[in-house]
Amino acid sequence: MNAKKAAADKAVELIQSGMTIGLGTGSTAYWAIHRIAERMNEEGLRIEAVSSSKQSEELANQLGIPIIPFSEVKSIDITIDGADEVDRDTNLIKGGGGALLREKIIASNSNRFVVIVDESKMVPTLGKFPLPIEIVPFATELTIRRLEQLGCRPVIRMADQATFITDNGNWIIDCHFDEISNPGELGERIKTIPGVVEHGLFVRMANTVVVGHADGTTTVQ
Ligand code: 5RP
Repeated sequence: MNAKKAAADKAVELIQSGMTIGLGTGSTAYWAIHRIAERMNEEGLRIEAVSSSKQSEELANQLGIPIIPFSEVKSIDITIDGADEVDRDTNLIKGGGGALLREKIIASNSNRFVVIVDESKMVPTLGKFPLPIEIVPFATELTIRRLEQLGCRPVIRMADQATFITDNGNWIIDCHFDEISNPGELGERIKTIPGVVEHGLFVRMANTVVVGHADGTTTVQ
């Protein structure tokens, strides 16, 4: 069994008719969006959704999932999204797909934030996966120097030999720390750097983590 799909299918069981759903981004969220569409077709599930990226919005549109603009959202019942790493305290690194800013806005405005991962994403300590940080392109060099002072090796994210541009028109710096022993403190220090829009540390935000394995799922919290 596909472990990402297994986690996604399990999480989508939490959705009920009438809910407003936050849609994540990435290859695991892809399966959740597909499963939501299946439940709409098979069981008549009625939901509306907000999307964390243009990519997921396009997929939702193709599958007939109604998307509402964020400006019209009163509250989000459940957001289901993937992660790049999950530590023992269910802190996360997110942003491998470059959607961390909208993902964080949606997750932090949700009554329940459900994270779906395959077991390879579960780690004792965050940091092997480079931490994505969204910055404004203005004064990139200065912002990068400030990030270096935090002890990381910053790399400007590229795509197709050009600088990767987020849905918000910003750049992503992937910061190689190797180990992040105190994600809460690091996140606060990163946020003090002018030029940083948001970082991919999601500290104490996940309410539930559904972990997919080859033979089923386990749920943390
Ligand atoms: C996108 C994200 C994704 O949730 C994260 O990168 C995990 O992706 P995948 O499910 O493809 O492994 O944060 O910005």
